[in-house]
Amino acid sequence: MNVLVVGSGGREHALAWALARDDVVNRVFVAPGNAGTANESKCTNVAIPVSDFDAQVELCKRERIDLTIIGPEDPLVNGIRERFDAAGLKCFAPSRKAAQLEGSKAFAKDFMQRYGIPTASHLTTSHLDEAVAYIEEQGSPIVVKANGLAAGKGVVVAQTNAEAIVAATEMLSGDRFGEAGREIVIEEFLVGEEASYIVMSDGEAVLPFASSQDHKPVFDGGRGPNTGGMGAYSPAPVIDEDVEAKILDEVIHPTINGMSVDGTPFQGFLYAGLMISKNKDVHVVEFNCRFGDPEAQPVLYRLRSGLSSLCFAAVNGQLRGESIEFDERAAVGVVVASGGYPEQYETGYKISGLDHNLAGTKTFHAGTQIHDDEVHTSGGRVLCVVGSDADFMQARQRAYEGVEAIDFKGQHFRTDIGYRAIERLQN
Ligand code: AMP
Ligand code: GLY
Repeated sequence: MNVLVVGSGGREHALAWALARDDVVNRVFVAPGNAGTANESKCTNVAIPVSDFDAQVELCKRERIDLTIIGPEDPLVNGIRERFDAAGLKCFAPSRKAAQLEGSKAFAKDFMQRYGIPTASHLTTSHLDEAVAYIEEQGSPIVVKANGLAAGKGVVVAQTNAEAIVAATEMLSGDRFGEAGREIVIEEFLVGEEASYIVMSDGEAVLPFASSQDHKPVFDGGRGPNTGGMGAYSPAPVIDEDVEAKILDEVIHPTINGMSVDGTPFQGFLYAGLMISKNKDVHVVEFNCRFGDPEAQPVLYRLRSGLSSLCFAAVNGQLRGESIEFDERAAVGVVVASGGYPEQYETGYKISGLDHNLAGTKTFHAGTQIHDDEVHTSGGRVLCVVGSDADFMQARQRAYEGVEAIDFKGQHFRTDIGYRAIERLQN
């Protein structure tokens, strides 16, 4: 079968690589892809932007593509599934309505409340006086979120009431996140350890991926502004067997069932961002309607089953009875970013050392491009080097050996990826 991956980041490189490893796959097209997908076996980049659904449909017809997988959230929220359905093409993705689980925080909160899915208590409002009254009544710390998509930046964890009121004022005025902030969700501050739990669903049945955790702040020790993710590892030790059973019973199954009951069945990758408390209570922080980035890199590195076959079964509503297997070994992924990211940064620098062949590592590309046969930086997050081994210590060592082999001007990476997992092991 031939497959198309839409997107150009590290997650999409990992998806393309995992899809290509399936024996049933002849070719993987990536639109638009990056330098990593350009050089991957069975893979071909096609210069079509993520937002150009017509060109993607035309490509699928021309190249006889059997299945399309979507990386980022924007095309999902903008109805790519409907466009492919209308053309009679198979696209493993949630509908525009189902993607509201990520596209609208107000929708997600209302949905969770209706189905008794554990999440922070909240108020949805577009009126400043209501927002202020709620903040003063609840007290801080408190969390203020823009309702719509804001590229992962629409969340303010406020330590004081004043800070929360400033955030609410800026969001509601439209100054801070435009239309995405005209409605806000104000919610209870949750305490615990965050983890990511990603499953695939055909709308009814569910197949869980290995658990994972990411590191959002840009600097060591969790300091500095939040990024899309500076590294991730799998499995998440905080998700033991009991916690996993709770996540499935209290979050995943009620969500898939509820979406089906509401007439908007969720088909695709469902990502639950979770807060797990000391006494193992589970609360949903957010839903994403796609695979995580950089979670995809370590999680898919551990995947032993054929991803294309599973996605094909899911898009045909035949996931029940399928199974999924992961390598027992731990995987740690370290993101190498452009200096200055997530604020201003420069691109266009040559990357050296990519040809290292260290065992037990894999370098997934994100913001890279080929110029004159050389690989150059072209984005904020440039690479994610995954290392895998029997335990987290060794996996992390392998990942950092890979990182040390690579160099480009101004590069920045965290040196403590996986520290929570390692601390947990040592206790
Ligand atoms: P989100 O975009 O909803 O994932 O939020 C970004 C980050 O803000 C999360 O990964 C958490 O670290 C933090 N966050 C969001 N909501 C809460 C909450 N209710 N309590 C504590 N932290 C939160
Ligand atoms: N790593 C977080 C995300 O993909 O949203």
